[in-house]
Amino acid sequence: MTEASSLPSSHPLLDGRTAQSAVVLAYQGVRPQTRPIWMMRQAGRSLPEYRALREGTAMLDSCLRPDMAAEITLQPVRRHHVDAAIYFSDIVIPLKLAGVDVDIVAGVGPVMGAPVRSLSDVLALPDLDPDSLQPITEAIGIIIGELGTTPLIGFAGAPFTLASYLVEGRPSREYLHTKALMRDDPSTWHALLAWTATITGEFLRAQAIAGASALQLFDSWAGALTLDEYLEFAAPHSRAVMDAVSDLPVARVHFGTRTEHLLVAMRDVGATVMGVDQLTTLERANELLGGTTPLQGNIDPELLTADWPELQAHVRAVLKSGLAAPAHVVNLGHGVPPGTDPDVLTRMVELVHEEG
Ligand code: CP3
Repeated sequence: MTEASSLPSSHPLLDGRTAQSAVVLAYQGVRPQTRPIWMMRQAGRSLPEYRALREGTAMLDSCLRPDMAAEITLQPVRRHHVDAAIYFSDIVIPLKLAGVDVDIVAGVGPVMGAPVRSLSDVLALPDLDPDSLQPITEAIGIIIGELGTTPLIGFAGAPFTLASYLVEGRPSREYLHTKALMRDDPSTWHALLAWTATITGEFLRAQAIAGASALQLFDSWAGALTLDEYLEFAAPHSRAVMDAVSDLPVARVHFGTRTEHLLVAMRDVGATVMGVDQLTTLERANELLGGTTPLQGNIDPELLTADWPELQAHVRAVLKSGLAAPAHVVNLGHGVPPGTDPDVLTRMVELVHEEG
């Protein structure tokens, strides 16, 4: 692969550590012997060791302390024996690194000092100084030193999802301000998304070069858009993010919730793997995508509190449905809920490894 030269030769994908790992193979459409599994939000509040370590440290500070971010990333790999680590950070970290006034309020989510709603607000957004990415590079260096043959997945929030936090000022169910800005002031909208795409592309690229073996772009809230809205107002900017890393030999996973109507459009911005939530079966997703795209998903997070036989039957159904796709990385349909019993997660990973 000629493009491999853009990663350092000491990168885990190039020096032999992760190239044959089950997750990397499945992301390339090759079915490994055992179905691999990792879980969105595996690093976090479901783990007592996470809560203990986080005690007294604000969420965003913990993301920017390389030793702490590294330790939190590794905790679920040690405990559950998942097949990949997801880098412990947050989609608002590039905003914070650029100097935007943002915080994560416990139980609420990302909250902005002031919402961004006018052209002058957008023009005042600062550039990301590449030196500010140092804590990320340093954390990933520690992580890959410990992970050995287990790949690290880097991630970022897609422009639409990130912009919805900037425009609403806090988590929203309705996206009223976001949709109003999109419709009423499209030039401000596109300027805002172009800015988020630039910093997001830089954040993703830094993670890959520092050692991530795959990247996932979360457009968690894109399902709030119709297909036409998505194509006009979101897709060009998600494509710009994918383009910022498409010269690197790492898989590009794209994920959103309630996005059955957008799956093909989301793949076509430049994703190589599609994440699917629990509202669409993997068989259906595979059919929509034409049978050529490896899939990731989609155990229903709500069933993590069901009786074990019920969860077991559901996991088996997901494994069966995943056989339709060229390859399948098992995951949840969305993140691990905070109150989940970690022993259930460990048992589920064992089940997938035994039967997948
Ligand atoms: O294990 C992992 O998945 C890695 C870490 C990770 C976090 N956030 C840590 C986190 C990842 C991949 C994210 C991505 C993220 N952040 C997304 C996309 C994925 C998704 O869930 O849809 C979004 C939309 C965000 C924004 C965000 N950050 C929300 C909505 C929240 C929840 C607010 C709450 O407290 O309920 C956060 C906070 C957050 N990000 C926590 C964690 C572990 C909880 C904060 C804490 O532990 O105090």
